[in-house]
Amino acid sequence: MSLSQSRCVAIGIAGASASGKSLFARTIVDEIRAEYGKGGICVINEDNYYKPQDHLSMEDRVKTNYDHPSSLDHELLVKQVEQLKNGESIELPQYCYQTHTRLKTTKTVKPTQVIIVEGILLLSSSSIREKLDTTIFMDTPLDICLARRIQRDMKERGRSLDGVLAQYHMTVRPMFLRFIEPSKQHADVIIPRGGKNRIAIDIINTRIRHLLAEK
Ligand code: C5P
Ligand code: MG
Repeated sequence: MSLSQSRCVAIGIAGASASGKSLFARTIVDEIRAEYGKGGICVINEDNYYKPQDHLSMEDRVKTNYDHPSSLDHELLVKQVEQLKNGESIELPQYCYQTHTRLKTTKTVKPTQVIIVEGILLLSSSSIREKLDTTIFMDTPLDICLARRIQRDMKERGRSLDGVLAQYHMTVRPMFLRFIEPSKQHADVIIPRGGKNRIAIDIINTRIRHLLAEK
């Protein structure tokens, strides 16, 4: 059966910012690709779908609430996950955390048999949930997430300590409590501790191998 005829499977990984979603997804993709090659699995990050903000000044871009669903183009995400599941390639938007907007370029992503989608607000959206065949929630304690977020945002996203903490109090924590934490009820699997949970990685890999063997 060709890829376009077989049914592709989408696995969603949600959870707080810096809870280990990206590491968990990356580890699974690396391990599955080592066995099945690139055609087996790919990862799509919800962050790529933050709305373009070229029309705003830098001063205004910093004020955006990036932890509210309205900051994301979830419609495009749903459309592109659907396209991948239908065996079509997509043009994935590229995002820059320093300028808070999309790059002019996109990246072509070819369809794979298993698609991992990861991001903070995935399970808060019913239209995204409908596209996901298996849903995972990273249940990492918030203090661990904050510690990781400070290090990451300062090292990788060009932020100051004061800036990270102000954003955390203003939007990151309140939106977690309002949208992300309640979305845990929609998860099939809840994973404690974070992206290095070896047993959880093995369990999900076993399920993916099972799905790939069915194809
Ligand atoms: O990788 P992670 O799941 O942490 O990415 C989501 C986080 O990125 C959100 O909590 C949001 O506050 C942050 N973000 C940001 N600046 C942007 C876009 C997203 O701080 N321009
Ligand atoms: Mg991430």
